[in-house]
Amino acid sequence: MAKLSVSNVDVKGKRVFMRVDYNVPMEEKDGQMVVTDVTRIKETLPTLDLLVKAGAKIILTAHLGRPKGKKEPTMSLRPVAAKLAEMLGAPVNFVDDCIGEKVEQAVAAMQPGQVVLLENVRFYAEEEANDPAFSEKMAKVADIYVNDAFGSAHRAHASTEGVARVVAKRGGQCAAGLLMERELKFLGDELEKPARPFVVILGGAKVSDKIKVIDRLLEKADALLIGGAMAYTFRLAQGYKTGKSLVEADKIDIAKSALEKAKAKGVKFLLPVDDVVATPVKTDKLDKKGKPIIDFQNPRVSSDMNCPDDAAGLDIGPATVKAYSDVIANAKTVLWNGPMGLFENKNFAAGTNAVAKAAVDATQKGAKSIIGGGDSVKAINKAGLGDKVTFMSTGGGASLEFLEGIPLPGVVALSDK
Ligand code: 3PG
Ligand code: MG
Repeated sequence: MAKLSVSNVDVKGKRVFMRVDYNVPMEEKDGQMVVTDVTRIKETLPTLDLLVKAGAKIILTAHLGRPKGKKEPTMSLRPVAAKLAEMLGAPVNFVDDCIGEKVEQAVAAMQPGQVVLLENVRFYAEEEANDPAFSEKMAKVADIYVNDAFGSAHRAHASTEGVARVVAKRGGQCAAGLLMERELKFLGDELEKPARPFVVILGGAKVSDKIKVIDRLLEKADALLIGGAMAYTFRLAQGYKTGKSLVEADKIDIAKSALEKAKAKGVKFLLPVDDVVATPVKTDKLDKKGKPIIDFQNPRVSSDMNCPDDAAGLDIGPATVKAYSDVIANAKTVLWNGPMGLFENKNFAAGTNAVAKAAVDATQKGAKSIIGGGDSVKAINKAGLGDKVTFMSTGGGASLEFLEGIPLPGVVALSDK
């Protein structure tokens, strides 16, 4: 069902309560938290521009991190307000709460076209619990609800779902923002009847994370190209040795059934024919989570489908790169989700970078390229190719669930057209 667009709502002088996904990466620098990637903020600017020009009073609400119902100073949205003001070229009034008197007073003082950003909604446990009384409290300052937080739309939380219900019950309008609309268009409508060949590239660590997407896309795609650690679970399913590669030994059956379904449907299902492998060695250094950092020694190309006993597969090899690039070159629609290897380490980034380049080359020849969020977006940005694809999603988990065909609660709650 098509949803009401913010561009079709009369917002003049109205209080527009807008959920955004400003769950952006942050880092501490000289005792201050700073935003390290502004993509999610930037992508909401078209909706904000529209609302400012139309004379709405804009009340922004968002979450940051997972503070689990506690006030966690490192997860305050204050630095985001500063960044947004800079990008918007207009003041953004930060309120250090998301419900109550402070919020009501700040909103009462607003002029049309002004912007307020409320503090992290997840400082209250009621947010994730989707508590109806909490939604009522937030909705006190809402005449109209707008959701531009595609990245959070898979969560049925108070600010993503509950407030919309309250506003709708009062007879108010609940609309999709322009970012939300773009996401639904590219990850939804465009993939319903894709121009063919439709080539899907899936990577990442776990088959179990992607199996529902694989299953659904086998109904639509002409070719599926598999990379990342999940390729090794397929190798295991085919009876090869996987050495120290990351595998899900208990997921062999789902790998097998995906292979069978691909065959039955006549979908090209490509698995790596060679790998970049290395020998993992535990160091005595610890990562942020307190786990020993692994040093990957002696990186090398292996053309043996059996992984050496002492080694782990960490990237697709050059023959696979060539095979995948050839398929992508002929595509009219490319969908990519998940890196081909451990791309954060330059020894294992070649496969992911090559796929990014192949997607860009195809785009330049007229194909539509859609990058399904999360790590693939990080990788394509790292390769400096972010502006050369047709669309990059701002969602991680939300993109995946949407591609699986699961209705997103944050979208479902919006008014129909
Ligand atoms: C995300 O970054 O995936 C979204 O902002 C949702 O965050 P969450 O996974 O903590 O719900
Ligand atoms: Mg997430």
